[in-house]
Amino acid sequence: MSATPLLLLHGFPLDSRMWDDVSDLLADDGVANLRLDAPGFGIAPVIDAEPSLDLVADGIVASLDALGIDRVVLAGLSMGGYIALAVVARHASRVAGLALLDTKASADTEAARVNRLRIASLADDGDTSAREAVGPMISTLLGASTLRTRPDVVARHRDWLTEAPAAGVAWCQRAMAARPARLEVLEDLSVPGLVLRGAEDELCTQDDAETMVRAMAEHDGDAELVVVPGAGHMSATEAPEAVAGTLAGFWRHCVG
Ligand code: MLT
Repeated sequence: MSATPLLLLHGFPLDSRMWDDVSDLLADDGVANLRLDAPGFGIAPVIDAEPSLDLVADGIVASLDALGIDRVVLAGLSMGGYIALAVVARHASRVAGLALLDTKASADTEAARVNRLRIASLADDGDTSAREAVGPMISTLLGASTLRTRPDVVARHRDWLTEAPAAGVAWCQRAMAARPARLEVLEDLSVPGLVLRGAEDELCTQDDAETMVRAMAEHDGDAELVVVPGAGHMSATEAPEAVAGTLAGFWRHCVG
């Protein structure tokens, strides 16, 4: 594996499988990449501590240490982006480039925070309650074009939502509710930055994306915004070729 691989961090309430298509395309293109699950998802256990994305970031760096990896180019989608921002805030020397996909650097509004804690409480009642709570997310995870014309993609996401584990849903909702705004992390960024967004993403707006790329450009101007047409919040699963192509170019730019 390259000395500086691309690390892919998934969105909520999915797991690393959401990167399957992108990861295969990247590997075919010669881009060394790896994935880590967030606490409670995929093969990762929840962390036995007050939920916090800072703990997730520290855990990622511990995993890199265990793998003998000094630096990575980080790519995080939505919740993965919040986690990537926490890694940069706490371990900037481990990051050779930062790609933020369908995410934002702001903290939650009070209404969003209350809603997360409501869903976390429902998830405390077990897998069935957690899955009922996250099921309706299908209509905001996917873009209008995908929802209208691509039943196979919709079915794949419905399957993932019906497998969402209660422990992960509860822990990660509480961790996301507690996260701070992190725009200043981007203003201090001294490695290349990329912001990518599905044009039909209703959860992370064009304004969110432009705000982040402007902040990233403050330090040395090395920041780019890419908008993927026909995709929504799950750009990586709705438009894997476009996302993999953009990430491959960004990775090469970062590692030289
Ligand atoms: C995600 O896709 O990870 C979620 O939309 C993040 C969030 O709930 O803010």
